[in-house]
Amino acid sequence: MESKLISQAFDRVQADAIAALVFEDEAIPAELAGVATWLEELRTSAEFTGKPGELAVLHQAPGVAAKRLAVVGAGKRSAFDAAGLRRAVGATVRSLKQKGVKTLAWWLDDGDAAAAVEGAILGNFEPDQHKTSSKESKPLESFLLAAKSASKGIQADFERGIILADAQNFTREMVNEPANLLTPMVMADRARAMAAEVGLECEILDQDRMRQLGMGSLLGVAQGSAEPPALIIVRYRPAAAPKTSDHLGLVGKGVTFDTGGVSIKPADRMDEMKYDMAGGAAVLGAMRAIAQLKPAIPVTALVPAVENMVGSRAQRPGDIVTSLNGKTIEVLNTDAEGRLILIDALTYAQRLGCTHLVDAATLTGAIVVALGGVNTGAFTNNDDMLARVMAAAKSEGEKTWHMPLDDEYKELLKNAFADLSNIGGRYGGAISAAWFLREFVGETPWVHLDIAGTAWLNDAKPFLAKGPTGVCVRTFTKLAMGW
Ligand code: BES
Ligand code: MN
Ligand code: ZN
Repeated sequence: MESKLISQAFDRVQADAIAALVFEDEAIPAELAGVATWLEELRTSAEFTGKPGELAVLHQAPGVAAKRLAVVGAGKRSAFDAAGLRRAVGATVRSLKQKGVKTLAWWLDDGDAAAAVEGAILGNFEPDQHKTSSKESKPLESFLLAAKSASKGIQADFERGIILADAQNFTREMVNEPANLLTPMVMADRARAMAAEVGLECEILDQDRMRQLGMGSLLGVAQGSAEPPALIIVRYRPAAAPKTSDHLGLVGKGVTFDTGGVSIKPADRMDEMKYDMAGGAAVLGAMRAIAQLKPAIPVTALVPAVENMVGSRAQRPGDIVTSLNGKTIEVLNTDAEGRLILIDALTYAQRLGCTHLVDAATLTGAIVVALGGVNTGAFTNNDDMLARVMAAAKSEGEKTWHMPLDDEYKELLKNAFADLSNIGGRYGGAISAAWFLREFVGETPWVHLDIAGTAWLNDAKPFLAKGPTGVCVRTFTKLAMGW
């Protein structure tokens, strides 16, 4: 889909449809004066009153050049924000493309151009890259963001929105790939291709290199699969010497498939474990946007990519592995593999000079029990660092909830035979998992985001297709841009 920003009067815009917001608690906007009777009828019959999620379409509206006029409910003005606009545009795109609309114009009024174009690009995405027939999607071909006069500021927001949403869809497409087509090596190849395309450095550490370095924890997970692991490293350096000595490290869990290993998972819904690399894909998507938006801080992404399988060489419960930083771990449950690969990547990130760390991982079922699909769980060893991440997440409309990490929870990881257990028992499972990571970041300011509940939509939303959400791409990019 191409997206264009145009300066034009409302009634002159040529398109299959032009859409405009209507607020529940406001008078009809001047642009819609010509259809005031229609809108009043809709309101009287309660078919359209301006509530969020409402949509009404009129063909050949008087005085409107576009073929259809769509009015979109926005709710109360005081409760309306960028996230609401993103959702409203997304839902309009998803509804109208089903009706055969190919060119959609959106009347921006005084809204946020970034959020509007993001809504359109995200709403137009369908995870149907492998369908050859009966495709659900009849995608929009063209999205026109129309304003009376598009200032330089609006233009810049619009371009940033395109970059962010394209990056998020890059992540969604990668997450949606099945594990037979996206092995750790294929993920590495895609990272390399992306880096070359946008001008980033990329380095892949292979199994031999990781063995030399001593990444025993990561390699223990990888050894059950015939697919070799890869540690993907992508680097962004600002063109001008940075004013800060800070260096942001983004680490993402890249388990291309999680069978659970010998502690095998039940068959029911195991197919979904192809999304166990969503954290890694989010980090790569963010790097794609960062390369284009050029923040002032160096950013290094690390994605440990492995497949957690049950081959004859697979690690067993009770195996003791030595991590890159020297601590030993008894693997009491091979299904707690995410933390085992992340710690070696977190240690290596510190060796590469990262002074601040954020990781994203589909780490625990327990976070889904705690927060459902609404909020990402955030854990930290540093409240200032958390505040930065939470502010970035909030401004991008990615809901995030601060979870506790009291010292008492650390006890859950005590082990008789090694320095640590890789599991902490049934209760507080997301917290003991976070504590396990924390044992390897030392004093480096760090935030862990458990996205097991937010990286995948089990049912489509009006504004977003079922499947991968691409959560964290915008938050990470915003974090780097605002540093
Ligand atoms: N990838 C899973 C976590 C997960 C579960 C993600 C559901 C998305 C949806 C992770 O590797 C895992 O298996 N965690 C175990 C940990 C347990 C063995 C301590 C879990 O949550 O059951
Ligand atoms: Mn697992
Ligand atoms: Zn997993």
